[in-house]
Amino acid sequence: MTEQFEYYKTIREQYVARGVGNGNLHVADTASGATIKDIEGNTFIDFAGAIGTLNVGHTHPEITKHLKEQLDKFIHPGFNVIMYESYLKLAQKLAEITPGNFAKKSILLNSGAEAVENAVKIARKYTGRQAVVSFVRGFHGRTNLTMSMTSKVRPYKYGFGPFAPEVYQAPYPNVSEKPNTLSNAEYVDQVIQKLHDFFIETVDPSEVACIVMEPVQGEGGFIIPDRKFVQAVKAICESNGIVFVADEIQNRFCKNR
Ligand SMILES: Cc1ncc(COP(=O)(O)O)c(C=O)c1O
Repeated sequence: MTEQFEYYKTIREQYVARGVGNGNLHVADTASGATIKDIEGNTFIDFAGAIGTLNVGHTHPEITKHLKEQLDKFIHPGFNVIMYESYLKLAQKLAEITPGNFAKKSILLNSGAEAVENAVKIARKYTGRQAVVSFVRGFHGRTNLTMSMTSKVRPYKYGFGPFAPEVYQAPYPNVSEKPNTLSNAEYVDQVIQKLHDFFIETVDPSEVACIVMEPVQGEGGFIIPDRKFVQAVKAICESNGIVFVADEIQNRFCKNR
């Protein structure tokens, strides 16, 4: 270990909160495409890509060029202070490339948790209802509301209560847990029945503002639900005036089934 690395390690321990962990304990210096070089000259293949947020890898020349041009114009006027072209054009582009031939609008936010929080606010205001339904083993973020909607307890919720009220977790199929006595189709039908029971036993659908679903669960174990289950969720939303919110991370942007 070099002296410089030891120096940064001391700073990390002394000044950075322990709540944020580091998957890799080295210190990045430069990055290009799929690789990162650290300050000691090691090269790593970056399988994380900032947890899936670097769609075209590190320092793509086209993106770097546009970022530099933008920095010369302005960094951040704040859209709620004054409009600017890139925000408007991105909203237009999203409307054009997302599925569905109907009017669409976007709000651009800083993080996944903030997007989920705002989706819940929009659904509550639109429906005039309070309850939020998410799914067992789901993950939706680290704020109080999204933590309440998350059902993976450790490490995300453990020791961080109390949680937000009016949040309920519905069953979600995971065929790897299916009893051997059932076929896949029988198991999925059973979970769909449990989902209908949930809306009798746990929360009345007329009080539900939104059902928030990861179309492919990530943190819960990379679980792809059966198409029939997703269709059952859709049908429940449609027949009860519930807003469907897709928290798309693992299934890639706009690849809802
Ligand atoms: C399904 C899902 N929702 C929400 C989030 C929260 O995103 P962020 O960490 O940007 O707040 C994540 C993060 O991995 C996620 O996987």
